[in-house]
Amino acid sequence: MLFTEKMISLRNANVNDIALVVGFDRRLNEEEHVNQDREAKINKAVLDHHCSIILASNIPVGFVIFDYGFFDQGWIELLVIEEAYRGKGIGVHTLDLICEKSLTKKVFTSTNRSNLIMQKALSKAGFTFAGELI
Ligand SMILES: CC(C)(COP(=O)(O)OP(=O)(O)OC[C@H]1O[C@@H](n2cnc3c(N)ncnc32)[C@H](O)[C@@H]1OP(=O)(O)O)[C@@H](O)C(=O)NCCC(=O)NCCS
Repeated sequence: MLFTEKMISLRNANVNDIALVVGFDRRLNEEEHVNQDREAKINKAVLDHHCSIILASNIPVGFVIFDYGFFDQGWIELLVIEEAYRGKGIGVHTLDLICEKSLTKKVFTSTNRSNLIMQKALSKAGFTFAGELI
């Protein structure tokens, strides 16, 4: 099933959502989650009101961390969709929603060269390549 933009919404995460977000992140990559102390980063993002839960037909399917930490420009720190919900258009619609709510005209993010799906989602949402860190 593909999701249309109307079926996707963002809700500000609060302290009661921390376990949900930690679960999404842990299932994405247990090793990175532990080694990079991402639970603490998630806690901070939630408390700073930088984390949103992604809802597809009102079901929580992932989260996005967004702030203005890139030279005061909109910055997507992390976007994670639960595996069972990937490839259904949710990533692209989430990027569209983030760009709509951003207070800056430009929104930046970064992804690994190997992450072709994220690059495809970004390109479909109108992002263009700005540079590479090597
Ligand atoms: C990257 C991610 C956010 C993209 O969200 P998504 O909901 O899966 O992506 P979409 O369904 O919106 O698809 C975007 C494009 O990628 C393509 N795509 C999605 N999954 C794919 C797969 N498994 N194989 C090939 N192409 C795929 C889609 O087909 C779509 O292009 P199309 O419409 O032209 O076919 C999601 O896959 C994810 O959470 N991945 C793990 C975490 C991650 O890598 N986050 C990004 C780094 S911050």
